[in-house]
Amino acid sequence: MADHILALDQGTTSTRAIIFDRDGRIVATAQREHRQSFPQPGWVEHDATEIWRNARNCIGLVLADAQLTPADIAAVGITNQRETTVCWDRKTGRPLHPAIVWQDTRTQGIVDRIAEHGGVDQFRERTGLPLNAYFTATKIAWLLENVEGLRERANAGEVLFGTVDTWLTWQLTGGPKGGVHVTDVTNASRSLLMRLDSCEWDAELLAAFGIPRASLPEIRSSSEVYGHCAEWTPIAGVPVAGILGDQQAATFGQAAFDEGEAKNTYGTGSFLVYGTGTEPVLSSHGLLTTVAYKLGDGATHYALEGSIAVTGSLVQWLRDNLGLISTSAEIEPLAASVDDNGGCYIVPAFSGLYAPWWRPDARGVIVGLTRYITKGHIARAALESTAFQSADVLEACNADADEPLTELRVDGGMTVNDALMQFQADVLGVPVVRPVITETTALGAAFAAGLAVGFWADLDALRALWREDRRFEPAMSPDERARLRREWRKAVSRSFDLA
Ligand code: G3P
Repeated sequence: MADHILALDQGTTSTRAIIFDRDGRIVATAQREHRQSFPQPGWVEHDATEIWRNARNCIGLVLADAQLTPADIAAVGITNQRETTVCWDRKTGRPLHPAIVWQDTRTQGIVDRIAEHGGVDQFRERTGLPLNAYFTATKIAWLLENVEGLRERANAGEVLFGTVDTWLTWQLTGGPKGGVHVTDVTNASRSLLMRLDSCEWDAELLAAFGIPRASLPEIRSSSEVYGHCAEWTPIAGVPVAGILGDQQAATFGQAAFDEGEAKNTYGTGSFLVYGTGTEPVLSSHGLLTTVAYKLGDGATHYALEGSIAVTGSLVQWLRDNLGLISTSAEIEPLAASVDDNGGCYIVPAFSGLYAPWWRPDARGVIVGLTRYITKGHIARAALESTAFQSADVLEACNADADEPLTELRVDGGMTVNDALMQFQADVLGVPVVRPVITETTALGAAFAAGLAVGFWADLDALRALWREDRRFEPAMSPDERARLRREWRKAVSRSFDLA
């Protein structure tokens, strides 16, 4: 009997395959990092072929590690770094350009051109999003305008576009030999091309960005059988039955299904997602409106999202670009070697600043330097910037939502850092709650796939699987919190107008 679900979690820095059992426990994990290319300032690229190879390898490895065969897997769920855009040849399955990663800002010229007539909020009501280089439409438009012959080939139906969920699903279900070209509502809601109300591609938006509809995937729900894995894959015959963008997957994996429930994921960036139920709520405080999930023919659920481009990747930058640490794990003891930040703040506006500021003209700054500052203070300021950025987003969320959040569920790699989680609770002023399984992104994809094939009965069955690990209560005085956040805001203002 198939007693397991396999989740494929394709993130910004690595790909993971995780097998879960019926209790939502991790049975085995395999992980592969992929190369990050920065060919020019502001450009970030991935090799989609490498990502597909890593995905295949991870699936093979995790099955071997768990000593399971495809017959033991009831379904596969896919979750992915969102917005990152892949473009490939329908016949050969070969990418026609490196994937343009969500953090990439090369499309600012296209954004400026379209914003000239109508401003950056012209599509907000229809899509929930501001016009920004972050979103998929600008990246597809850039490819069509800059890759020789691509527009003609796309018009002739020879080219397929998609986010990474689409690319992996197409490859898994057969590639050039009958692969399904689909995406789910959560990924499509990050494109600037999908209407929030109908969850369909919008003809006017396609025209505004000059994108031929036939090159885009079909938009499906987040939980249904899209197709079956091809015989030459390591999971031949297993249905692909769940697709969720990684932040929506983490929300789902946190069992935050209802209005008023929220989570914050600490990965390459950080993303706070706050459920608003079956009605989309437009933000007046710099948050995005996004689709949270849609299960088969069920209603579409929406959320407000505070997207922060750089949190965990700042630690990688300190490691790879500055050589301040040699492994990411070293940041924690280094930050703990000092009592406080010594007045030093880092605003990591590497891709401009996202929520709640949306300032493409911002660039990173380190402020408050004196001869007193050591690398311990820099490490501490780097970690603290994660907590301060999340506090700015939570404040915006509380201003938009009817009820202020009374606690925040957290997940993702950085949440193992107890000191950071305590500091997060301190600057938020509300408890931070960490679940037993912090791999909620993969778990959410597994949940969506499991629901589609009847592996789990309903949302109540999933709720019963969520377990608390630790609760961090705020311990900082309100005066101290206000002082730190004031200084942080001052640092943020120094990062503007630098691009
Ligand atoms: O919107 C970008 C986001 O989906 C990337 O997530 O976890 O790869 O940093 P992550």
